[in-house]
Amino acid sequence: MRTSPTPTLDDATRGRILFGGDYNPEQWPEETWQEDVRLMKEAGVNSVTVGVFSWARIEPRPGAREFGWLDRLMDLLHEHGVGVVLATPTSAPPPWLGRLHPETLPRDEDGQTIWWGSRQQFAHSSEVYRRHAAAITEDLAARYAGHPALTMWHINNEYCTYDFGDEAARAFRAWLHRRYETVDALNTAWGTNFWGQRYDTFDEIVPPRRVQYLHNPAQVLDFKRFTSDALLECYLAERDIVRRHTPHIPVTTNFMPFWQGQDAWAWADQEDVVSVDVYPDPRDRLGGQYGALIHDMTRSQARGGPWAIMEQAAGAVNWRPVNHPRPRGLNRLWSLQAVARGADAVCYFQWRQSRQGAEKFHSGMLSHAGPEGRTFQEVKRIGAELARLGEHVAGTCVEGADVAVLLDWNAWWASGQNGRLSAEIDYPEVVRAWHRALWEAHTTVSFAHPGHDLSGYRLVVVPQLHLLTDAAADNLVAYVRGGGTLVSGFLTGVADEDDRVRPGGMDARLRDLFGIRTLHEWWPLDAGETVGAEGFRGTLWSEEIEAADADSVIPYRDGELDGCPAVLRKGRAWYFSTLPEPEALRILLARIAAQAGVRPPLDALPDGVEAVRRGGLLFLLNHGREPVTVPVPGSHRDLLTGAHLAEEAELGRYGAVVLQEAP
Ligand code: GLA
Repeated sequence: MRTSPTPTLDDATRGRILFGGDYNPEQWPEETWQEDVRLMKEAGVNSVTVGVFSWARIEPRPGAREFGWLDRLMDLLHEHGVGVVLATPTSAPPPWLGRLHPETLPRDEDGQTIWWGSRQQFAHSSEVYRRHAAAITEDLAARYAGHPALTMWHINNEYCTYDFGDEAARAFRAWLHRRYETVDALNTAWGTNFWGQRYDTFDEIVPPRRVQYLHNPAQVLDFKRFTSDALLECYLAERDIVRRHTPHIPVTTNFMPFWQGQDAWAWADQEDVVSVDVYPDPRDRLGGQYGALIHDMTRSQARGGPWAIMEQAAGAVNWRPVNHPRPRGLNRLWSLQAVARGADAVCYFQWRQSRQGAEKFHSGMLSHAGPEGRTFQEVKRIGAELARLGEHVAGTCVEGADVAVLLDWNAWWASGQNGRLSAEIDYPEVVRAWHRALWEAHTTVSFAHPGHDLSGYRLVVVPQLHLLTDAAADNLVAYVRGGGTLVSGFLTGVADEDDRVRPGGMDARLRDLFGIRTLHEWWPLDAGETVGAEGFRGTLWSEEIEAADADSVIPYRDGELDGCPAVLRKGRAWYFSTLPEPEALRILLARIAAQAGVRPPLDALPDGVEAVRRGGLLFLLNHGREPVTVPVPGSHRDLLTGAHLAEEAELGRYGAVVLQEAP
């Protein structure tokens, strides 16, 4: 856990698990607020996020301040024991801002304006936008600094916009100037001798707007770095304002998980609380694994300490092609899963389902069916159970995460561009495949940045790191030399920090580490195509490799690559030149993990049962639709029901127990 002088999630939870959601009562007459607070109490809601999109309501015309409704709301919530995560409303500027100051509106890569009428129509580098955002943040912070309902600040909402407009272009140039100092250095980094792209001054550089054919990949990479930094500046400006008024109140901004636009590692370091919005698809049989991945990632961004689910859906979302409700029990299971994996806040978008607007078919905790509806009834149960768990888990850490999965936004940005050998390779999907193998093997994992200290992990897994800095390559080598076990997937160490291909197609330090003499050719596979290797079939990719001093290899047994190594091992360093099919990857990885001394939280776990230890408790979660019996040696008490269990736990469909050892 971090030991910083700044406040933490503990300052907001105070020994409880926060339970609640976005509350947008502007949509309802004030009489409805009375029913809201009554039902919140009934459901065990102790926290709501207010004001996320309220700018136009607070400042209906330039300079106006209409705080009366928010005063009444904050007071009402406080009277009913509901804490407030207060949002700065800066993700939804009012229409007048765009009308009076069109430069506050972002442009897409074709130069088209992103208009008001939806949300998030702000140009991150616009001076005028930033000035108005700062002004309303200042007044909001000053007004509610001393309000007893205030527990946390929520800056903006899901920062996500790219901007290719003129002001963004100026800011991009300034950013490049700071990064490279001279235009010659930029030309070298971007390789502009190719296709005659040489720049004579920084003034000639534009964002990667619409072009005739492929962009310069280094330009695109830097534009993504710049966008993440520019959005971060917006966050920091508002964070610093609220911090000045309330140094004791923690600050967060809610991440979209696995979102390209933000380097979440860099952002998380600037937050008191790391929070995320997580929406697994209820129809996805691996929705539980997706949730686990996002939880592990967010907890790791919080450096292993407690983190917050700022939003999830109690039922259906409304942005997939077809939107399914959560079947009975799934909301509870996934909420408990987040707690198992370190969450100290389980919140939803949103409290009361809207009757108007773009999200009226998106579920709420209180759905159109009202308090009698199944969704609300299940929410009540979850609220009651989390209230029981709070004193046992709030503030505690997940135990036994001996495996680190490495993840890097720079590598993602560099690998996802056009002009690559295979458009079938999707970085998040590759990461997900490796995480799935570990999850199905019941292994508790963390995520780490390739530059982090890895020495505390028994096993480090690199699903793919196309771009690897010199320092990161040295870090991996030092980790193995220090006794660690490393498993790397293909397309790792291909390029340097500028996305310049390393001589030999793979960093020489890594080739040496894995015992590779020559990487002759990359052999991508078509969608759905597989390649045979001894004992498994590979997917997505394969490589024509010649081993040097690898200690052992698993060879390809198919076609052009017959006999070439598919998997190599040199000492404790493993390299997979293809992605084995899921079951094979699980078996191979489980074997390597076991050799590295990694143990699951419990032996003899049935398939589909997730086990996680947190705060001295054992969480068992059945992601299957069939009941299962899990052998659990010893005597335990289930904190959810109070029941005593001896030697085993029965888990129904989507069932869960939270076990405390009984004396
Ligand atoms: C995001 C947003 C919310 C809402 C939900 C819908 O998480 O932050 O305002 O739009 O998506 O799923």
